[in-house]
Amino acid sequence: MRILIENIKELVQTEPGTDRKARVAGKAMADLPSIKEAWLLIENGIIHSFGSMAQIPGDIQADEVINGEGRIVLPAWCDSHTHLVFAAPRDQEFVDRIKGLSYEEIARRGGGILNSAKKLNETDEGLLYEQSVQRLEAVIAQGTGAIEIKSGYGLCLEGEMKMLRVIRRLKEQAAIPVKASFLAAHAFPPEYREDHEGYLRLIIDQMLPRVAGEGLADYMDVFCEKGFFSVDETARLLEAGWKHGLKPKIHANQLHRSGGVQVGVQHKAVSVDHLESMGEEEIEALKGSDTIPTLLPGAAFFLNMHYQPARMLIDAGLPVALASDYNPGSCPSGNMNFLLSLACTQLRMTPEEAINAQTINGAAAMELEQEMGTIAVGKKARLILTRPAPSVAYLPYSFGENWIERVLV
Ligand code: NIG
Ligand code: FE
Repeated sequence: MRILIENIKELVQTEPGTDRKARVAGKAMADLPSIKEAWLLIENGIIHSFGSMAQIPGDIQADEVINGEGRIVLPAWCDSHTHLVFAAPRDQEFVDRIKGLSYEEIARRGGGILNSAKKLNETDEGLLYEQSVQRLEAVIAQGTGAIEIKSGYGLCLEGEMKMLRVIRRLKEQAAIPVKASFLAAHAFPPEYREDHEGYLRLIIDQMLPRVAGEGLADYMDVFCEKGFFSVDETARLLEAGWKHGLKPKIHANQLHRSGGVQVGVQHKAVSVDHLESMGEEEIEALKGSDTIPTLLPGAAFFLNMHYQPARMLIDAGLPVALASDYNPGSCPSGNMNFLLSLACTQLRMTPEEAINAQTINGAAAMELEQEMGTIAVGKKARLILTRPAPSVAYLPYSFGENWIERVLV
């Protein structure tokens, strides 16, 4: 099966040679290579070739020809941080926050993550899968071409296993790559509130061997935060994860400068995510590492918190990724198109930087950079074709408008 897209106004995020870039960092994030007036040929779902219309071979045979006139083509979004499997929305907490309660207060009163855990443990696995598949299909239609999904609303052996089995089914059925993270260390369940050691032992001695033994997770996640998991607890959990071959990808520095970034870097995390609260020490720790700082401005937007200091990170030469954090509490949307606008208006990233952060760097934050994230020969053809648009900047500019004409996955 061959698909030709011709007369593309601009083919964005192209990599001409065979040297694959692994990520883009610092100043280089401002470069978004592209070809104006381009063509692209897909063969059996793989990018076969592309180039400028001025040099299109005369003899291309294709089963389908798509007209790219006036349109932009770019790699589909790589969303490296979501909690897409959940049992129920938390719209009542949303109203409570409007009336003045904070996210932390709601959590202290047994709402928040514990509210979602209660609902999840009451929900049948088949139903959970059905709900999740619908959400996944919806975000694919919005341009997501690869996704990471976390457990973390079970908070007990059976509940965590149930979530991870649902994620495995999504992996098997989905048109896009799905990565799974094990996040039992999301909150202390009520019965362990005064017995942190007991919950850590449950995760380390009982859950991890089962999860890893059944190959249910790619990564180990911990919510390292005041009132949740301390730096020492996080370190123990990450070491235990490594023993089972699970690399860390953690929640860090959302509500406080909790030491999460440093403990993540020390344990060779693939990424440290959130980063609303940052300072010089955190930046220094990241500079000497391969850990990708991943920003989740959707959560800052929805919780009405201060935004992540993207400029400080980019100016320090770091590779910033952007992800949705899709979850029922702090960001009930997986729409990466809105995220693109938020990154530009609130994080003061340029459109080029934000697109790099949502494509190649997002792919790197889930170790998919060899198959996704740029337009390169041999990579998977997971693409967004826009409606007619005057420029790349128009995409984040026209927020709330659906500028996607077609998603190819
Ligand atoms: O990334 N901060 C921790 N975990 C999620 C929110 C989970 C929830 O509120 O249900 C986050 O924002
Ligand atoms: Fe999260």
